Amino acid sequence: MASASDAPALEARDLRKSYRLSRTNVYEALRGVSLVVRPGEMAAIIGPSGSGKSTLMNLLSTLDRPTSGKVLVDGTDTSRMGDASLATLRNRKIGIVFQQYNLISRMTCVENVQLPLVAMGVPPLERHKRAKAALESVGLGHRLRNRPAEMSGGEQQRTSIARALVTRPKILLGDEPTGNLDSKTTQGVLQLFHEINEAQGVTTLLITHDMNVARQTRRVIRIRDGLVEADEPNLPLPVTA
Ligand SMILES: Nc1ncnc2c1ncn2[C@@H]1O[C@H](COP(=O)(O)OP(=O)(O)OP(=O)(O)O)[C@@H](O)[C@H]1O
Ligand SMILES: [Mg+2]
Repeated sequence: MASASDAPALEARDLRKSYRLSRTNVYEALRGVSLVVRPGEMAAIIGPSGSGKSTLMNLLSTLDRPTSGKVLVDGTDTSRMGDASLATLRNRKIGIVFQQYNLISRMTCVENVQLPLVAMGVPPLERHKRAKAALESVGLGHRLRNRPAEMSGGEQQRTSIARALVTRPKILLGDEPTGNLDSKTTQGVLQLFHEINEAQGVTTLLITHDMNVARQTRRVIRIRDGLVEADEPNLPLPVTA
């Protein structure tokens, strides 16, 4: 079952996730979600707070495991993989962008971006070169030596996007990647996601609360109460002033 180029970039098969709240009480956050995301697609995941979006993203990114069902990444069934080989697969194929950036505050921008390459065993000089190139690609070539506290929210988020991209992943996942940004900065970060998707063909899945963000992707997956309520192409809406 080698990963074939025609395999979906990501596939969820009947994903369920239960959280044990007490000895007798179990909460089903996902109740059977199936999805196919094709290579090169860009989609938004929307839905009310508590509907299961982050739970779903954590399963798709393989950071967490489902209670039942499976996730296939680039045609590979991850359900039988051990934690170490799963970490390697995630490191090679998936870039993840978090709402809170998750940058390490005592490291410089370029050191943060190098981190995934350390895990891959890339030698220091090559690491620095690739991190610098990734930062240049997000417009931060002039911020290499800054620490996160010395950068704006948008710059920190672009740093975290560079960190997600530096491994040249096939898949980019974002959980509210513009949730902490003002509307102008949101537009810049969103533009960057579009460029990455179009120019590099990176399959991109973004969770968002922001209808303006969702409106700009071709496909919108709507989650409600742990289920896919709708999964549709996004028809262009009239732009209102
Ligand atoms: N570790 C956990 N233990 C217990 N319940 C959890 C846990 N994580 C999530 N839940 C519950 O599962 C449901 C789905 O949570 P999830 O974080 O996926 O929602 P979400 O759609 O991402 O919401 P938001 O838009 O607010 O981020 C919620 O009711 C939440 O309280
Ligand atoms: Mg969430």
